[in-house]
Amino acid sequence: MAQTGEDHEKAVETLTEAEAAQELAELAEKLGAANLAYHRDDAPEISDAAYDALKARNAALEARFPKLKRADSPSEQVGAPLAEGFGKVRHAVRMLSLANAFDDEDITDFDARIRRYLNLADDAPLTYTAEPKIDGLSLSLRYENGTLVQAATRGDGSEGENVTENARTIADIPQKIEGAPELLEVRGEVFMSHADFEALNTRHAAQGGKTFANPRNAAAGSLRQLDPEITRARPLSFFAYAWGALSAPLADTQSGAIARLAAMGLRTNPLTKRCEGPMELLAHYGEIEQQRATLGYDIDGVVYKVDVLALQGRLGFRSTTPRWAIAHKFPAELAWTRLDAIDIQVGRTGALSPVARLSPVTVGGVVVSNATLHNEDYIAGMDSTGAPIRDGRDIRIGDWVQVYRAGDVIPKIKDVDLSQRPADAAPYSFPETCPECGSEAIREPGDSVRRCTGGMACPAQAIEKLKHFVGRTAFDIDGLGARQIEMFFHDESLPIREPADIFTLEARDAKNLAKLRNRDRFGEKSTANLFAAIDEKRRIPLARVIFALGIRHVGENAANLLANHYSSWTAFAAALDQIEIGAGAEWEELISIDGVGAVMATSLVTAFRQEAERAVIDRLVAELDIQDAEARNTDGSPVAGLTVVFTGTLEKMTRAEAKARAEALGAKVAGSVSAKTDLVIAGPGAGSKAKKAEDLGVELIDEDAWLALIDGQ
Ligand code: IVH
Repeated sequence: MAQTGEDHEKAVETLTEAEAAQELAELAEKLGAANLAYHRDDAPEISDAAYDALKARNAALEARFPKLKRADSPSEQVGAPLAEGFGKVRHAVRMLSLANAFDDEDITDFDARIRRYLNLADDAPLTYTAEPKIDGLSLSLRYENGTLVQAATRGDGSEGENVTENARTIADIPQKIEGAPELLEVRGEVFMSHADFEALNTRHAAQGGKTFANPRNAAAGSLRQLDPEITRARPLSFFAYAWGALSAPLADTQSGAIARLAAMGLRTNPLTKRCEGPMELLAHYGEIEQQRATLGYDIDGVVYKVDVLALQGRLGFRSTTPRWAIAHKFPAELAWTRLDAIDIQVGRTGALSPVARLSPVTVGGVVVSNATLHNEDYIAGMDSTGAPIRDGRDIRIGDWVQVYRAGDVIPKIKDVDLSQRPADAAPYSFPETCPECGSEAIREPGDSVRRCTGGMACPAQAIEKLKHFVGRTAFDIDGLGARQIEMFFHDESLPIREPADIFTLEARDAKNLAKLRNRDRFGEKSTANLFAAIDEKRRIPLARVIFALGIRHVGENAANLLANHYSSWTAFAAALDQIEIGAGAEWEELISIDGVGAVMATSLVTAFRQEAERAVIDRLVAELDIQDAEARNTDGSPVAGLTVVFTGTLEKMTRAEAKARAEALGAKVAGSVSAKTDLVIAGPGAGSKAKKAEDLGVELIDEDAWLALIDGQ
C-alpha cells in the first residue's frame, strides 16, 4: 500500500519552496503509479479516499507555489497514461499458441489425426520431437546479420510489445549469434528459475516491497518493466524452441533446426528428444514428469511437434494453433478448503454461472479464494446427460471441497468430502430468476446452463458484453477497460450502454455542460488520450468486429474464419440477412466453412434477426470504418476467387488437407453445389453433387486434374 499522504503532512503554509518541490515530485510519482495500477492494470493499489487525499494535497501545493507546478503535474494528467508504454511491434510471422492435451488418449488421437490428414498408414514411421513446456512468457528475437535488433512479446499473436532493451539484459539472449541466416527470428520462453525467484521475493520482502505469486508472474512482471535497469536487476532466463521469419531454412527437421539454434549460441532445452510415434512420446512425457521437481524451473507439460518440417508445412495451422504440435499438460495441482458461499454471476450471453467463494488456500503456489462451479448440474453431482459425477455427491455451502488449478485457467472444484459435511448443510437450490435484473432464468432443452431472459435489458449482460467488446482481443481501446466500462455504464450524464456509445462519447461530452476533463480522475490530457484512443479504433479489421459483437459460440477462431470467408462487412451482413436457418445455399455456404457448425451458424443468424440486438449492431457499424479481411497473398494462384466443391473419395490427400490447400490458394470451399460453384472436384463414389454439377453445367474434374491445376502452388 502506498502512503496516503496524511501521515507525514506539514501544513502547506509552513513549507519552504524546496520542501514543496520535493513533495510535488513525490506526489507526481505516487499519483502516476496509482493511475497506472488503476487504469492500465485494473488493480488499484490505494483506496479512492487515499487517492483523493493525494490529489488534494497536490492541488493545495500547486495553488500556494504556482511556479513549482511540474510539466508532468498530476493535476493535468490523470486517467489513462498508457501512451508512454512500450512501442508496438507487428510480428512478421504470427506468434501462435498450442492446442492442449490432457491424457494419453488425446495423444493417440493427435497422432491419428495427423496420419489421417497426411494420409499415412497407422504403422508408417512418423517422428516427433518432445520437449518440456516452459511456464514463462514467449518472446520473439529478431536477428539481422547475426545481430539482435528487436525483441517483442507475443501480445495478441499479431502484435506484441517492443521489449528490446529489456531483452538485452538477459544473459541467455546473445547480442550476436554465429552462422545465422541474414534474417532470423528466434522464438522461445523467458522464465525465472526457482532459485532466482526465491531470492527475488526474499529481497523484495526484506525491502517491504511486493512479492510475486509464482515464477511466471515474476518473469512477466520483470520483462515488462519500462525501465530496462529494473529488468537487469531481475534474473531472467531464456530457452529457444521455435522460429518466426527466416531468410533461409534452418534445417529439414525441427530437431535439426533446434540443433542449429544451439550451435549459434542460443540456449535450448536439454530434455528435447526425437520420438518415433505416440508410445515413445508418452514414455518421454513420463521421464520429464519424473524430473519435474528437480529441474529448477517451472514446466507445465511436454510439447510434441512433428519433426519433418515439410510435413509441418503440409499440416499447417488452424486459426490460432498449429496442427503439427500439441501441449501435453501435467495434471493439475490440488488442495482442500471450505466452501463459504456460492455467488451467481451473469455473463454476456445471460448464462448464470455459479462461483464458489472459498476460504483462501494455496494451490500450486497461488492463493485461491474463488473457483468455478460450472453450472447447476455440476453442483448437484451430475453431468449434462444426467449421469453421476463424483459418484453423485452434490456440493453444499459449508462443505470441504478439493480445488485444482490447471495452467492459468480459473480454479475448479474436483471433489467434496462428505465426512466433513456440517449437519445443517442444505442442498443448494439454484436460482430460477436472474439475480441482477430479476428476469426469469430458463434452461433450454439441451443447454447445460440456465440463462437470464432479460437480453439487452439486463444490466449484467449489457456490461459483460461491453467488457468483452473492449477486451484485448476485441477492440482493445487504451484507457477503456473493464473498470471504466463499469463506471460509464452507471454514469447518468455520459453513459456507455452499448458499443456505439463509445464512439459517440466525445461528441456527447462536447454537448454536456459538465465535461469529462473536469472530473476527478479525468484530466485534460487523459480525456484527450481516451478520445484519441477511441478514434483510433474506428478503423478496425473485420474479424475483430465480428468477435467483439460477443455473439454466443462465435469466438476468436470463428470470427477469423468468417472474416476470411466473407471478406467484407457488407458481404457478411448481406449473407446473414438472406440466410434461413437450416436451408438454402447461403446456409450451406455458412456451415461449409471449416470450423463453423450448425450451432454457431444458428446463433449468428438468430443474433442478426433479433431486432434489438440488430439495431445495436447497426448503430455500431455506422460509427466504424471496417477493414476488409486481408486477402491472402494468392498471386499466381489459378484458383483464387473460385468457389469449389469436393465430393467423393479423394485418394492423394484427405478432404481436410484438400480443403485447407484450396483455401490457402484463395479458393472458397463450399459444401454443396449451386449456380455459384465454379468447379467440382469429384473422386470415386461422387453421387448427387457430381450429377448436380452436370445439370448446372459446372466444370467437373477429378483429383489428378485438380492437383495438376494447383501444381507447384
Ligand atoms: S512451440 C507454433 N514449444 O506455450 C508453436 N511453445 O501454450 C509455437 N511454450 O505460446 C510454440 N514451452 O509461449 C513451444 N517448448 C515449447 C514451449 C512453448 C512453452 C509456450 C509458448 C506458447 C505456449 C502455448
